[in-house]
Amino acid sequence: MSAHHFPDAAPEPLVSAPGRALEGAVRIPGDKSVSHRSIMLGALAVGKSRVSGLLEGEDVMATAAAMRAMGATVTRKGEGEWEIDGVGVGGLLEPDDVIDMGNSGTSTRLIMGLIATHPIQVTMTGDASLRKRPMGRVIDPLTDMGASVHARTGGRLPLVIKGTDMPLPIDYTTPMASAQVKSAVLLAGLNTPGITTVREKVATRDHTERMLSSMGADIRVEDGTEGRVVKLVGQPELSPIHMEVPGDISSSAFPMVAASIVPGSDVLIRNVGLNPLRTGIIFALREMGADITVENERVLGGEPVGDLRVRAARLKGVQGLSVDPSTMIDEFPVLFAAAAVAEGDSRFDGLHELRVKESDRLAAMAAGLKANGVEVEEFDDGIIIKGCGGNVPGGGTVETHLDHRIAMSFAILGQRADKPVTIDDARAIRTSFPVFIEMMKGLGAGLEA
Ligand code: S3P
Repeated sequence: MSAHHFPDAAPEPLVSAPGRALEGAVRIPGDKSVSHRSIMLGALAVGKSRVSGLLEGEDVMATAAAMRAMGATVTRKGEGEWEIDGVGVGGLLEPDDVIDMGNSGTSTRLIMGLIATHPIQVTMTGDASLRKRPMGRVIDPLTDMGASVHARTGGRLPLVIKGTDMPLPIDYTTPMASAQVKSAVLLAGLNTPGITTVREKVATRDHTERMLSSMGADIRVEDGTEGRVVKLVGQPELSPIHMEVPGDISSSAFPMVAASIVPGSDVLIRNVGLNPLRTGIIFALREMGADITVENERVLGGEPVGDLRVRAARLKGVQGLSVDPSTMIDEFPVLFAAAAVAEGDSRFDGLHELRVKESDRLAAMAAGLKANGVEVEEFDDGIIIKGCGGNVPGGGTVETHLDHRIAMSFAILGQRADKPVTIDDARAIRTSFPVFIEMMKGLGAGLEA
């Protein structure tokens, strides 16, 4: 049950202070993006899908509940083992109540895509964080396809979306690098006759495309000088999914940074999804001097996977990165924690999208770093961080604003702080990485709930 179901319930603070050198091997929980898509697409297949290694965090559970409310049978068979009985493309039913997406932007935007081309009307809401986030970016293309949406001012939740029974295929260029917008249009294209086209200037994570292709859809991806073009032929019959979800590289980023910054550490992170549109964090940390090797590379569920061995290293600041920000968009908060410990200043820019995540991550990180004695300068689309070249002063309390990645980033920073770092409320961690505290303590981190 997510925190916002008990708005008056007590926050759960977390105190982070140095433990010992991090050592050991961990298996990272399933990828959040892949887990969401496996339930949504399993729900549209004809027949029974079987998924293992599913991430059982609150966000994915919100997707499961929504797909159940629209007629699919989504059943937990064991730890990470799930079965989904699909209704077929075009078979979603109108839910008889509001659907509550909790903290999850991915659930909201992708499911809006599904609803847009089914003749059903759905009211959607979410927690205080999600109700602040812009949905206009999906409302625009979905309206072009024939859906109608009534949202709160600024395209905010709660909203009512009415799908169309006469969907039109569109040729859409995403105005910002967003896999959620791309996926919403493609999912709407599933129940649309003809060819739906999405163009993106920079390629973003392609889990939707990979999964649809493995289910037998006619989907083509082409890379050209103008970026990437994805074309989907509508109204396919989708065969069920049988897959093991790879570990989430976005979750892996936390032990990766921790092992890099805590002297003497040597950690093996098993089962990490290495989709090339997600691996930016590995390259970014290496640019800062990190010692990360990839071992045992293989393919799992249509996605590349490997084990990451991370040993402590002396990190140095960077003036910009050579990797595309969209390949590590969720990893910037923890990279900022690494920059705070590094030797010398770092500057990161081109990060306007960070302002519309679960929190305004530029503002939340700047405030939390300042509260812990780190000098920063926040600007419109980025941040300058003055590296401490070792421990940060610490001693401050961080406001997480219901953002799991802010909470976890400061839990990592506290491992290199002179005085403990306090996180005001760690409950949001359950949305994406429920075993985070236990796993980090097992490696040697000093965390007190
Ligand atoms: C996601 C896409 C990204 C990412 C989010 C998950 C996805 O969002 O930040 O955590 O699963 O498609 P944007 O599409 O808004 O960049």
